[in-house]
Parts: sequence; C-alpha cells; structure tokens
Amino acid sequence: AVIKIFGLVVLLLEMLCCVFILAQCHFKSPRCVFCLIVISLYEPGVQPNNASSVINALLLHHYKRGAYYPKGGASEIPFHITKVIQKYVGNVLVRAPVTRVLVNSKGAAYGVSIKKGQEEVEVRAPIIISNCGVFNTFKRLLPPEIQAKPEIQKRLDMLKPGRGSLLVFSGFDATAEELGINSTNLWLFKNNDIDAMSVLDEAPEKVPWMFITFPSAKDPTLKIRLPGKTCMTILTMVNYEWFEEWKDATVKKRRDDYMDYKMRFAKHLFDWACMYFPKLREKVKKRLYFNLRNFVASRGATYAAEHNLECFHIDVMAKNCCNTPDKHLFISGQDVFSCGIVGAVHGGLLCASTALGQIVYVNLFLLKKKLKRRKAREMSAVGKEKLQ
Ligand SMILES: *[C@@H]1O[C@H](CO)[C@@H](O)[C@H](O)[C@H]1NC(C)=O
Ligand SMILES: *[C@@H]1O[C@H](CO)[C@@H](O)[C@H](O)[C@H]1NC(C)=O
Repeated sequence: AVIKIFGLVVLLLEMLCCVFILAQCHFKSPRCVFCLIVISLYEPGVQPNNASSVINALLLHHYKRGAYYPKGGASEIPFHITKVIQKYVGNVLVRAPVTRVLVNSKGAAYGVSIKKGQEEVEVRAPIIISNCGVFNTFKRLLPPEIQAKPEIQKRLDMLKPGRGSLLVFSGFDATAEELGINSTNLWLFKNNDIDAMSVLDEAPEKVPWMFITFPSAKDPTLKIRLPGKTCMTILTMVNYEWFEEWKDATVKKRRDDYMDYKMRFAKHLFDWACMYFPKLREKVKKRLYFNLRNFVASRGATYAAEHNLECFHIDVMAKNCCNTPDKHLFISGQDVFSCGIVGAVHGGLLCASTALGQIVYVNLFLLKKKLKRRKAREMSAVGKEKLQ
C-alpha cells in the first residue's frame, strides 16, 4: 500500500513538474533551465538527457530555500544518531564488516555474520535492513541459491551500477579570507554540451567537468576548532573499468602505476581549481589526498545504482521497493528512491514505513507541526519578556 500511494504521489508530482518546467522554459530566463541541467548532471549522477524531470523538480524544491551544512561537519550526523539508537537499547558497531546475511534451512533470513578480527560473529535479528545497495545485498551477502531466485535476478537486471566518483581532498594553512574562497559550490565545465560530456575519456587531462566545494567555509565551528585551516574537495565522475585492474590489491598494496594514474587526475583537477583560486597553490599543506570512494565494494559508485530515466518508470519503481522476496529482509538507502543524502534519507523513510507497516511520513509531518508550534510559543515568550 505504501508503494502504491507513493507511486500515485510520484505520478501527481510528475504532472505538476512538467507544467512547472514548461513554465520555466517559456517564461523565465534560460539561466534557470541551465541551473536545472547542472543540478541534474550532478545529483542523479547521470547526464541531463537521462535524468528524471520529477527528481529535478524535487531538487529545485529542495534547494529553493537554500541548503544546509551540519555545524561541526558531517561526522556530527552519526555522532548524534548513535546516541538516539543507544537510548532505545540499540547498538552501533564500527569496523565490523558484514560478511553475509544468515539464512536458515527454510530460506528465511535471521541475522547477519560480522567479522571481528579473524573470527565471525553471528548477530541474530527478526528484521534485517540492508543499506549497502541492491547489488551488494543480493550479489555479495545472500547465499547463491537465494540469489538465483527469478524475482531477485529480475530486480538486478532492472538496475545498473552507477558511475564512480573520484574525489581530491586538499588542506590549506590559511583562512578562507586569505584564500579568497567561500561557501559557494562551483561547477566547472570545459564546454557547453553537457549531454556529450557523459562520454568520459580515460585520460585524466580530459576530465570534462568538476565540482568544487570548500566544506570548511560552510562550518562556523571550524574557526574555533581549527583556526587558520581550510579544506577543499573536488569531485568528478570516472568509469570503474579504468581502475579495475587494481581491484584485487588491498589499498596499501596497490602498485605505483595506480598511484601515478590517480595522481594525474588529482594534479589536473587541482591545477584547474588554481586557475580560479590562484592562492590555493601557495598555501596548500596536505596535498592531494585522493580517494576513489568505496572502490571495490561498489565499483566506486557513490550514488549506488545509476538513477537514469529507466529507474523512474512506474513499474520499475514498484518492483524496486524496500521489500525483498524474504519477508525478514528489507532494502534501504539510495537504491530504492533516489541518490544523494536526501535520496538516502527517503530510502530510509520508505524502508521504515514498509518494515513498520505504517507511513512514517505522517509521523514526520505531525512532528514538524509540533516543533513549529513549540518554536512559535518560544518566540512569543521571548517577545513578551522583551516587552516587560
Ligand atoms: C540512459 O541510461 C541507460 C542505462 O545506462 C541507457 O540504456 C539509455 O540508453 C540511456 N538513455 C539515454 C537517453 O542516453
Ligand atoms: C563567493 O564568492 C563569489 C565570487 O568569488 C561570489 O559570486 C559568491 O556570491 C560568494 N558567495 C557567498 C556565499 O558569499
């Protein structure tokens, strides 16, 4: 029922957003359409002609009132969520990789096996929610006989792994003012044909576009925590196949040629950034620490499955849901709705709704109303105090 209602909402949104986008194209400046295209390239991780207009409309809606950055950085999110989980007698394990989903003789999932040093520890649970993506869950964590089930194979065939993202991290011994940077995110393109840029070249010097962000300039607590320091993250998309030959080596044992290849990317992207922010070069301290995110586990695909147009066909959306053929196993995360932080949050809300048999969006809506009322009361109390 949740999925059906969701499908209906999506359809309604689709109709609304078509009208909306047409209106934008006809009556507003081309800049607005351009901005839409730029967002669509980055956010769903696919080229604009393969991105859903519904998701674009949701993105515009999301950014309409500006974006947020957690005070203290992204690590604040797990830090605070952990406390909530523990309050409700939950437990959070780190550095405890799940090796498989445990399945009994009747084929029903009853827990997971995790690695603790050299030994394997069984953790039993009535409900198992996987947040590591459809491909990892079905292909790596389930036993072969369950993987082979036609429902699971069909589901895997509907999706395609997304592109890998390549990130360059740099640290500077200077303040944002000294470097001439600020909290604005930047998109740099080498030409205007964004659809054509989806064909990537494996030569690092031919990277067609990149995204630059200065996380430290967004965090007001940084000036106190690390005075005189700033950082920059550059992101671009790459094909997993270019790096595949090194996939079996552990991170520390990857050969020099791997290092050379990735450093060519890092150097090119960093030099490109310096064209816009020349002071970066003199002040760089920790240089070009480079990362191909989740390289082996998910082919470097930060955005999980590719969120192309086909993923948003109503029948694919209905089949690619949080349920699995096993009623104890659920899928959450970016693969069930859309990608990015907000996409993953909705994946979580949809999954919680499915597992609990209750639409948690309603709870959230009521909670929001309650918080708004509380805030209004507090504001009026402050106002009264001031008057007295
Ligand atoms: C969109 O992506 C899918 C999967 O990669 C591909 O099969 C399809 O041809 C693409 N569509 C366009 C318009 O490029
Ligand atoms: C950041 O600087 C650029 C110019 O370098 C300017 O266009 C932009 O508005 C600034 N952003 C903020 C949030 O101040």
